[in-house]
Amino acid sequence: MHGVPHLLSSPSRSSAARASLTDTARVLGQVLLPLVARGLVKRRPRAVALLARLDADHRSVRCLQRVRARYGEGPVLLRLPRPVALVLAPDDVRRVLDQTPEPFSAAAALKVAALGHFEPGAVLISSSEDRPARRPFNEVVLEAPAEVHSLAGPMLAAVQQEADSLLDGAARTGEIAYPAFAAGTWRMVRRVVLGDAARDDEAFTDLLGRLRSRGNWGPLLPRREGLRREFDARLRHYLDAAEPGSLAGAIAGEAARAATGERTEPAQQVPHWLFAYDAAVIAAFRALALLDGAPEAAQRAAAEAEGAREPARSAAPTLPFLRACVLEALRLYPTTPALVRQSTAPTTWPDRRPAGGPPVPGPAVLPAGTALLVHAPFAHRDDERQPWADALAPELWLDGAARGDWPLVPFSAGPAGCPGRNLVLFTTSSLLARLLADHELRLLTPLRRGAQGQLPGTLDHFALRFAVRPR
Ligand code: HEM
Repeated sequence: MHGVPHLLSSPSRSSAARASLTDTARVLGQVLLPLVARGLVKRRPRAVALLARLDADHRSVRCLQRVRARYGEGPVLLRLPRPVALVLAPDDVRRVLDQTPEPFSAAAALKVAALGHFEPGAVLISSSEDRPARRPFNEVVLEAPAEVHSLAGPMLAAVQQEADSLLDGAARTGEIAYPAFAAGTWRMVRRVVLGDAARDDEAFTDLLGRLRSRGNWGPLLPRREGLRREFDARLRHYLDAAEPGSLAGAIAGEAARAATGERTEPAQQVPHWLFAYDAAVIAAFRALALLDGAPEAAQRAAAEAEGAREPARSAAPTLPFLRACVLEALRLYPTTPALVRQSTAPTTWPDRRPAGGPPVPGPAVLPAGTALLVHAPFAHRDDERQPWADALAPELWLDGAARGDWPLVPFSAGPAGCPGRNLVLFTTSSLLARLLADHELRLLTPLRRGAQGQLPGTLDHFALRFAVRPR
């Protein structure tokens, strides 16, 4: 099979567990189709609404639980023309993410096709040759390990001013709905990434939006090179201006220049930062919705927000509880629901087939070129194994013991894990702090919960609306 017959015919190894045609069809319909339908790169509002009505992510989790019961913890190969395997065991999730890019490349073919529409030189879809020139640059400019970015001062000013404009708008209308929230937070994002001059340049991020929409179609649509050149030229304008206090300014700084080599392509890294901030906007809005039905957490969030506005404070606060709320929004509703890797060599796995099946000769082998899918909603919300699967549980992020060794991976993990994690958590928690310090946000339509109070599997952020009242 696929170039490694010598391994598979070896008496001490076996082919990995393989789903039947019927089960493959179920996985296609209940797991893969919803991922593609919602939009891999840019969410489609109507598809998200439909998937929320169907509670699609709960269905996906149940489908993968059935696969696990039938074939073991895998990896389980699907019966498709190309090798695609489901990664179900926590140890395997960790292994696949930790052993990136070799033998598990992040530049899986579908991802390259989707993101190539607008960021062909981004680190995430770079070859193993180019990755070492790009990853350090991203880490340096985004200050990956720092809880609070060194540009916290100007960033915080942008976050707080845009939060105040949102509250001004809400004072007029009495509510905040997603379109207004997204428009306001995108002004913040453009300032943080490109500088204050970009604040109102909606046309620029709309251009990126059009390219991202094409990205949803991956290899099925040709790239629009003209549109991309137009986008790149406008981006170049902001990068040349290198406004101090923004990430564009940081790119021109000494540390970034020291991390820039011939193959880095700094301008090709920035579209990803803008694109990825969309997830932060969505997560912050969902965090507000989750607090609505959780009075204890809401009180704690409000107390932290109030503490953060004390004028005596000189340094930017780290806001651990609000960060945990954003992380919970991302655990419950991961904005990257499919972490995909592609193996660059044959890989060997412990045999994890269920007891009672036919005996197997030894460890399982997956051929080189296998696409491995880590389904984040399954990893995060497996209610057969995790008592907190469907509840708001910020303590998971505050207390290592509460979480055990579950691979909760909204930001992925390992060498290709998200270097923007801390920046996202800093900006979103600061935004929530400003919104909640003096105001109470109540959902106009409460979330639809299960009989035991379980949160919905899929949450349509486009439809969320809050009544806003001064506290
Ligand atoms: C809530 C917001 C975000 C989430 C949940 C998130 C999550 C992720 C995930 C899951 C990956 C790995 C994707 C994969 O393996 O296919 C990733 C990669 C990455 N993210 Fe984020 N991200 C967010 C925002 C950001 C922001 C705002 C930036 C930059 C400002 C950023 C920069 C990156 C970069 C550069 C990579 C590629 C890393 C590599 O391939 O080495 N992310 N992110």
